[in-house]
Amino acid sequence: MYYPDEIVEEVRQRNDIVDVISSYVRLNKKGSNYFGLCPFHNEKTGSFSVTPSKQMYYCFGCGKGGNVITFIQDYENMTFTEAVRMLADRAGMTLPETRSDEARERENKRAQLLAVNREAGKYYYAQLRSPAGERGLEYFRKRGLSDETMQRFGLGFARSSRDETFRYLKSKGFSDEVLRESGLFNHRENQGMTDKFWNRVIFPIMDTGQRIIGFGGRVMGDGEPKYLNSPETPVFDKSRNLYGLNIAKSTKAKNMIICEGYMDVIALHQAGFDQAVASLGTAFTSGHANLIARYAKENVRPGEIARYKDILLCYDSDGAGVEAAKRALTTLRTAGLSAKVIDMKPYKDPDEFIKNLGAEEFAKRIENAENGFMYEIRQLESEYDLKDPSKKSRFITDVATRLLRFEDPVERDGYAGNIAYKYDVSPDSLNEVIRKQAVEMGGITIAPKPMPTRGEKGSLDDATRLPQSRLLSWICDAPEVYGIVSRYISADDFSDPLYRKVATILFDQLDNDRFDPANVVSMFTEEEEQRQIAEAFHQNIGHLESVQMRENALKDLMLNVKRLSLMRDDRKDNDFNRIITIRKELEELERAHISLGDNE
Ligand code: CTP
Ligand code: MN
Repeated sequence: MYYPDEIVEEVRQRNDIVDVISSYVRLNKKGSNYFGLCPFHNEKTGSFSVTPSKQMYYCFGCGKGGNVITFIQDYENMTFTEAVRMLADRAGMTLPETRSDEARERENKRAQLLAVNREAGKYYYAQLRSPAGERGLEYFRKRGLSDETMQRFGLGFARSSRDETFRYLKSKGFSDEVLRESGLFNHRENQGMTDKFWNRVIFPIMDTGQRIIGFGGRVMGDGEPKYLNSPETPVFDKSRNLYGLNIAKSTKAKNMIICEGYMDVIALHQAGFDQAVASLGTAFTSGHANLIARYAKENVRPGEIARYKDILLCYDSDGAGVEAAKRALTTLRTAGLSAKVIDMKPYKDPDEFIKNLGAEEFAKRIENAENGFMYEIRQLESEYDLKDPSKKSRFITDVATRLLRFEDPVERDGYAGNIAYKYDVSPDSLNEVIRKQAVEMGGITIAPKPMPTRGEKGSLDDATRLPQSRLLSWICDAPEVYGIVSRYISADDFSDPLYRKVATILFDQLDNDRFDPANVVSMFTEEEEQRQIAEAFHQNIGHLESVQMRENALKDLMLNVKRLSLMRDDRKDNDFNRIITIRKELEELERAHISLGDNE
């Protein structure tokens, strides 16, 4: 789906950033800006600023920033297109249909299936709270759920009926075809459609947009199958959704907990662990790992290397749970995530653990969670008889093979040290085995991989970027200085490639009397770039008392940028004429008297 730039621009302009953000964050006016508590990180002082003149937001605490569209994307976890569509709706605009008929048809089908689920969810919810639902309510209460918890998870009840739910939804105007596809009904020859869920308590399953995409139903007591789930449908992809993530996505906790079942998630949330999610009666997939990666990612300052919350596996303590945890660790590792494992013994699962030992004890188990690698090795241990030296040797070889998965030698050495200590092997012997295994495995080099450099390059502490971003900020705060700046500085003078692009767009706007910083953000699609631009536009220029101080400061900034321009790596030899010009411009600037008097 693709909207032309003009449309996106119009959507943006019809949505004032202060209006939009005010509906999510309480903002207070201070001078010409608005401030509030940042919705993207946990804070007590308001470092989150919204600037009407720039139509941008920026958090001085965590570095998140952008325009009204990026705000909606971030806050609502929407794609660009979804955000544009939502803002268009908000402004009462109808967007042109550019989708193919087929795509539109599909979208229409999805919307109808979601509508069916929404109605069904309301129906089950109401039943739980009606006389017919008394058994269900009793069941949940017996399992220790409070009314508030039941409400938070939208729990419901399907009473014994052949086709009541079906008839109810029919009366709401849904077609047989859509109802059949919803997966809520069984369809047999000559029998028509019958309710799939009956005489069960109901767990609606929501996506991160709070839409019901499917249901789970549990028998009240013993009976088979214990749980019945909606089948996959066009709106229900089990390997890309996690139960509870609709709530856990906004947790303030420093970790995410992955467990096995509906009741585990609910019990954990009720005990205050609102960071718990579960895969939906299926194995933990790479789709789940990617979801976790997205929501466990911490807000870091622009340019810093990504950081993740601790990911904690809290699987059942039986054999199946251990196997599932081992597989999940592998899946997470493939997605680039490491995890820890929480021990639930002597209880079967977190639900039972909390019921017996309470939240405080659970918090201790979180504290003591075992490193995923060490957990895996401990499980491996049980396959070998370590008292037998030759078997122990094979075990250590097996461990060495696994140690080779770590590309970072420091990390690998750390684990190797632990292993050597724990299994009473000398570090030298262990290293010897590792080396041998490395050769064995086809010459996998154990040389260090270069560290990502983005962190260093992107850092604003970097002395070369600061003057450039300050100058951009100054122009954004007081576009009237552009008249002076443009006499000496051109976009080409910005040595940082991103700032150069930004300056090109911004200066072009100013040359054509179309100053609009938020529009500059729209020209970039990478989230990291958008943040860096927002940051560049929000540098603190400091409060300078006199006009003369401001003139000196501006001149210094321009001189810095100009000098950096001379040193631009990519122009060293081949652009000789340009270098001569810059030298001249630099000398001219050094002699110039900058006068802000008329321009302020
Ligand atoms: N599950 C399922 N179908 C089943 C059994 C289990 O889909 N027949 C899924 C459910 O999502 C369930 C999870 O696997 O929540 C874990 O199953 P299990 O450990 O058997 O149940 P508990 O979560 O302990 O459920 P309860 O506490 O209600 O007995
Ligand atoms: Mn259980």
